[in-house]
Formats: sequence, C-alpha cells, structure tokens
Amino acid sequence: MNLNLPFSVKTYRQRRDRLMKELSKNEQSFTAFFWSGSEIVRNYDSHFPFRANSDFLYLTGCSEPDTLILLQKIGNKTRTSIGVRPRDLSHERGSEIWEGERLGVERAPKALGFDEAFDIHKVQTIAEKYMSQAPTLFWGFGEYPEWDQKIVAMISKVHHNNRGIAIVKNIRDPRPALHEIRKVKTSEEVAIMRRSAEVAARGHIRAMRTTKAGQFEYQIAAEVEREFKKGGSEFPAYGSIVATGNNACTLHYRANNTKVKDGEIILIDAGAEYQGYASDITRCYPISGKFSPPQKEVYNWVLKSQIAAIKAVKPGVDFFKPHIAAVKVLCEGLSKMKIIKQSPKVILKKGLWKNFMPHGTSHWLGLDVHDRGVYKRVENPSESVKLMPGNVLTIEPGLYFRKDDKRVPAAYRGIGIRIEDDVLVTKKSYDVLSESCPKTVEDIEAACGPKL
Ligand code: GLY
Ligand code: MN
Repeated sequence: MNLNLPFSVKTYRQRRDRLMKELSKNEQSFTAFFWSGSEIVRNYDSHFPFRANSDFLYLTGCSEPDTLILLQKIGNKTRTSIGVRPRDLSHERGSEIWEGERLGVERAPKALGFDEAFDIHKVQTIAEKYMSQAPTLFWGFGEYPEWDQKIVAMISKVHHNNRGIAIVKNIRDPRPALHEIRKVKTSEEVAIMRRSAEVAARGHIRAMRTTKAGQFEYQIAAEVEREFKKGGSEFPAYGSIVATGNNACTLHYRANNTKVKDGEIILIDAGAEYQGYASDITRCYPISGKFSPPQKEVYNWVLKSQIAAIKAVKPGVDFFKPHIAAVKVLCEGLSKMKIIKQSPKVILKKGLWKNFMPHGTSHWLGLDVHDRGVYKRVENPSESVKLMPGNVLTIEPGLYFRKDDKRVPAAYRGIGIRIEDDVLVTKKSYDVLSESCPKTVEDIEAACGPKL
C-alpha cells in the first residue's frame, strides 16, 4: 500500500517525541489523544472528500478517517498507539472492496512508526486502560463533540471502576503546545509550501490568461483548480473565491455563480493544498485585460500598502507590525482618493479605514489555511507575539467599496481589491513564497492577454 507520506516515518516520530517532551514540561505522566475526524455526509449517501485533522496529520502523516492516536509518557518512558479501522475484504457495503484499501491493524505500527496498533472498534477498552495509567489527560475539547462526550464517559467509567476515586486528575489541552511547534516550519516544510504557492500562482496566471466576458465565475474557478491538480495538488486548500465586480466586496464570497462582464475587476482568492500544506493567494485583474483609471488607482494603493507590509516582516517584530504598515498606506490612499475627506492621520486615529477594510492583514499559514497558533500572548493578551524565522504568514490588505455605499464617490463604487501573498520569515528578513504570481498593473495586464 502506497501511503505517500510527505515526510519520513522518522520525522513523524520525532514530531511526536517533541510534543511529548513539551507536554511533559508541566506534567510528569500523561496520556494525550488526537482524533483524525470522520467522513462527513454531503447528501444522502455521498460524502465530502475526507481531509484529516491537521494536528493529527502533523503527528502521523496518516490520512485515514476514524483513527485515534494515543501518546503516553510515564516518567521517562513513552508509548505510542494508534487505533485504526480493521481490514475488511468482505463484499459488505463499507468494506475495502467498496471504499478502498485500508492500512489495518497489522501494518499500521511499522508504516507509521507507532509502538502498537489496535482495532478502533475496541477503542473504549484501550483508551480506558491508557487513561487509568496516568493522572493527566490531554484532549482538545470543542472540535469533535461526539468524542468530547466519549472522553467524558470514559473518564467516568475509569473512576467508577476505581470505586469512585479519581485517577484522571487533570484534563488539559495539548493544542497550545502543538500549535507553537507547528508555527515554526522546517526547511522541508518550507520547500513544500513554496511548491504549494508556485502551483497556486500558476492557477491564478491561467485564470488571467483564459477569462473572457460571459463566463461564469465557477468556470474561471475550474481554470484555476485545473492548474492545482496538474501541479500535484489534489484539492484546493479552501473553497476558491472567484468574485467579479461588487461580489469582491463580500470577503468570503462563495457562490461563484455570476457571469463576468467587461469593465469589471475580478478578485480570485484561491490556494492549493500541496502534500497537506496550504497556499493562499489573492489577485485581482480586469475582465477586459485593461484597468480603468479609478480601478488602477485603488489597485495601486492596495499594492503600495501590501508592499509596505511585506517590507515590515522580519524576525523579532510584533505580529501586527505589517498590519500597521499596511493600514498607514491605506489611510493615505483613502484621503487622497477623497473617499474619506479627512487627513490620513485622522483616518488612522479614528479607525475610519475599518469601513473599507474590515479584516486583518495577516494570518498564519501551514497545514490549515488559517494555520493554528495565537497572535496575542496567552499570558498577556495586550502584547502581540513576535515573528520568528520559520513562521509563514499571509499579507493581504484590501479596499472594498460596495456599489450601494453612498459615502463613496460613484467612480469607485463596486470595486473590491485584495492582494495577498504568502511570506516566510527568514533569519534576517522575509521571502515571498508566492512571488511568481504577477502583481503590478503592468504584469497583470500582460498576463491577461493574449487569451488562450
Ligand atoms: N483565503 C481566505 C482567507 O484568508 O480568509
Ligand atoms: Mn488569507
């Protein structure tokens, strides 16, 4: 069976060891559970394509549903176990003959580097045994309500079997420690993320090359996603946003069902998932291939703000420093375009820019498109975290002027612009992983023609 793991089994084992080491800083003896997730019904008996939980994927590389891992540390001794679906070669529905080959209990330990494996149907017995051996249980509540209930029931059973005396004394969340680890990418991960961004850039370029008036947004999405698949990405990292004209003012526009017209700008926010890792790129281009003067003006202010934000990326600075750099330029633009008839200083001070950019400039990027990890210090929420080498974040300022917004001069109404790149924090500064995607007005107009 070809598992196609992006990294070696040794790397995954090292990740689990590293996590257990982190968790043991505060807890001598513990058990930690991580769940893969299950398939989700789309309608009747059709399912959405399965994608394992990113924490689980980070720790195992395994992309099978209904899988649980148990990591245990008692003093200096560790034990790892994985509960998987058993092999089933019968003709029954749900068997491998219907649904595809499974790893199974026998093969799982060696294939994934675990000490032992068990049939997931026996999880209760195994999990209760692990629980009864350590006073601390790490489990992340709130993501899988069905499992939250199972875990509580298991704890209750373990205590009942112990004549009502608590064995599991602490329940703690393993995610903050794991997400701190995930936030710093290794050079191997960066290579994959660079590839993910390159593949995504090709999708955006193909859309520029092929878009013609009269197409539906979803047909343009198909051109983008065709390049993702061609480049080795099985899925988009999130639902592609293809938003023409005023639709671009809906930040997470998903309908993708409007016909595009000459004279409009189209905003595409689409990223590939390559070997589990997301890219997240936004570009805007004119359907006709040429920006109108007001479109160009808005575009260039957003671009200037985006470049200022990228230049602010370096190790040791506050996470929000690029955001502040972006906002300052946007305030200048809003004042110069007379969208807000105030000085840039007043626009900044009163936060008036938020009317036209109602989102942040950055988020972490990795296995999740909005990758896990905090932005404010847990111990002091008024202080933001600092950028570190190996962090990957997006830089994505925008300006959105809705067509019905009477505060905005008519020439700018119905224009929504966002420009987004994926940026790695390096030892001294930054590296734009998505730099192969055209971004200046000249480069975009050149990429828009001649049509394929
Ligand atoms: N790509 C969508 C977002 O960053 O929210
Ligand atoms: Mn984004």
